[in-house]
Amino acid sequence: MSDDSRPSPAAALTAAVIPAAGRGVRLGPGAPKALRALGGTPMLIHAVRAMAASRAVSLVIVVAPPDGTAEVKSLLDAYALPERTDFLVVSGGATRQESVKLGLDALPPEYAVVLVHDAARPLVPVDTVDAVIEAVRDGAPAVVPAVPLADTVKQVEPAAAPDDPEPVVATPDRSLLRAVQTPQGFDRATLIRAHETVTDAVTDDAGMVEQIGVRVVAVPGHEEAFKVTRPLDLVLAEAVLARRRLNDGF
Ligand code: CTP
Ligand code: MG
Repeated sequence: MSDDSRPSPAAALTAAVIPAAGRGVRLGPGAPKALRALGGTPMLIHAVRAMAASRAVSLVIVVAPPDGTAEVKSLLDAYALPERTDFLVVSGGATRQESVKLGLDALPPEYAVVLVHDAARPLVPVDTVDAVIEAVRDGAPAVVPAVPLADTVKQVEPAAAPDDPEPVVATPDRSLLRAVQTPQGFDRATLIRAHETVTDAVTDDAGMVEQIGVRVVAVPGHEEAFKVTRPLDLVLAEAVLARRRLNDGF
């Protein structure tokens, strides 16, 4: 295929894959994390709405807990979601990486741009989503939203027992470090090639793209795109929602 026959990047159809198949072990006992409520609405629905809020996103693929696909389908039917967006639900795998791969397997061929967004980041603002899409449409094969770190980071030699002191071996220059969020955005072919090639365990999709030698760029992320991981994160998420309700009320 010649380059001329490709759709122009600005017109590239964009889909979002939402891995939501994790249990949420660090959040403590209960329903799968993505199905727990935030402000009375399941976290997954917030995450789906955050993707569908972007006018560029015309398909959302939810990767559901294997024992929860029927429940996820009925949730998507029950909550009001934009007319312009289509939804697909697939069953997830044992790791995040596998779940994303299963989501990509369901991606129709006409989608040239793909976002991967954690269900566990329910509050990402639409401006962040749009900034990632725009950078991909402008030609970057892989884009991550990133924020500067508040804490200084130390590299340690992990101790044998959990509470033993750990020798510090290095202090990387904090000004060169970023905490990386989602949605991460990709040229479809690049992300699929990365998922087919990389077999090492990685913690984000861009990391796989780096491993196949493709350049990843960072755009500004947002503090509200934090990941709900531990119980305290639920408190913060509820507070962010309360602040939004208050601001919307005025
Ligand atoms: N995820 C997934 N499939 C898995 C594991 C994780 O789709 N087998 C998803 C989670 O649902 C979440 C995202 O990947 O939206 C980020 O993972 P994380 O925050 O680690 O969520 P969990 O794995 O559910 O949490 P924990 O690690 O505490 O069990
Ligand atoms: Mg996990």
